Amino acid sequence: MAEEYRARALGDTGSSAPEKWQFGGPDARGERDIHLVLMLFTHGNLDQSGSMDAYHLRHRQRYEAHGLREVFIQDACLLPMVRDDGTEDGSREAFGYRDGMTQPTLEGTHHKPGQSAPLKAGEFILGYENEYGQLPFTPVVPAEQDPQGLLPVLDVKGSSAKDLGRNGSYLVIRKLRQDVDAFERFLSEHCHDPEDPEGDAARKELLAAKMMGRWRSGAPLSLCPEKDDPGLGKDPARNNDFCFESDPKGLRCPLNSHVRRSNPRDGLIPGDPKESLKISNRHQLLRRGRPYKDPDGEQGLMFLALNANIRRQFEFVQQTWMNNPKFGGHYDSRDPIAGDNHDPAVEGSDPKAYSVTIPGEPVRQRITGLPRFVHTRGGGYFFLPGIQALRFLAS
Ligand code: HEM
Repeated sequence: MAEEYRARALGDTGSSAPEKWQFGGPDARGERDIHLVLMLFTHGNLDQSGSMDAYHLRHRQRYEAHGLREVFIQDACLLPMVRDDGTEDGSREAFGYRDGMTQPTLEGTHHKPGQSAPLKAGEFILGYENEYGQLPFTPVVPAEQDPQGLLPVLDVKGSSAKDLGRNGSYLVIRKLRQDVDAFERFLSEHCHDPEDPEGDAARKELLAAKMMGRWRSGAPLSLCPEKDDPGLGKDPARNNDFCFESDPKGLRCPLNSHVRRSNPRDGLIPGDPKESLKISNRHQLLRRGRPYKDPDGEQGLMFLALNANIRRQFEFVQQTWMNNPKFGGHYDSRDPIAGDNHDPAVEGSDPKAYSVTIPGEPVRQRITGLPRFVHTRGGGYFFLPGIQALRFLAS
């Protein structure tokens, strides 16, 4: 896809335009072009970053000795969910929602109760059958480039090429700034009732839940639409055990909400849960995001997702479900959390063309002028090699 078209399709416009990125944008060609990503993980949090610094230093000495140079460094760290008694209980992202609950299960791995049915491994790992019953596209090298025989032969009749992709995957990295003040301001503005100011806080939480499709505790609206249930929110056996088919109008969980747009499950085509699920299962992501807070106070999410086909999975979800104004029968609504909503930096952008609708009976609530809360600050696509490919590359 041409870069300009891709930027538009992904909502990388205005303040999120690649020209303004910290890494991975067009001005980062040549000297600042990124060839390799090294991800280092340790236990503990950023306040105890001493251990990470030492760990990083050891790696830096090794890679600099081999001629590599750092282009960009990003710290990121899980944010704890804190209970009323001050103890920690799972993790959240910067807007305060519990995160990291929903993950597709892969065929052949342990299936946890309450999680969705297993998907074919080829949706995430190259070299295995995918949900179409096909092997994913894979990078290959001519057999003569692998004289040591480190790579497997491509699983295609009559081909002698070597399969560089087998057991590898593709990694999407996006640095997404979250405007937490604007988000809280928006909730406050639209939930204030001068005749019932004491009810403002509860109304705020309800609007926040309707925009996400889950209460900040993690409890899914599909299971508890009226009132938060923190016990449900943190229970991995129950907090992902829901569908949308029985809620075609989105009265429990709005069609527009982030979780319903990013994974419509069995509710994509009204009245056809089987076909809906089949389609949804072809656009899944293995998410491994980590919140970040930069020294200048900027905060957000290092969005990391693995998939076997970036166009059909990550880009499709962002473009066709999250940023699509016509998704779910709307005409001017995008994902209210992570969609490309009104950004004054986009020339000619009219706030009236951005809305969020909360279905209700007898009347729905419709808010126009929805600002953009999540801004792209950098990003790139990377090949994550399997062990054999790593040995081959190192040789
Ligand atoms: C800063 C931006 C974002 C925030 C704050 C955010 C937050 C969240 C939260 C709190 C959840 C619910 C937790 C869970 O189910 O594990 C969630 C789910 C999800 N998000 Fe995001 N997200 C962001 C960006 C994105 C992007 C860019 C994508 C993909 C293009 C995405 C795809 C998903 C998917 C697929 C789910 C699981 C939905 C489900 O299966 O129920 N998110 N997100």
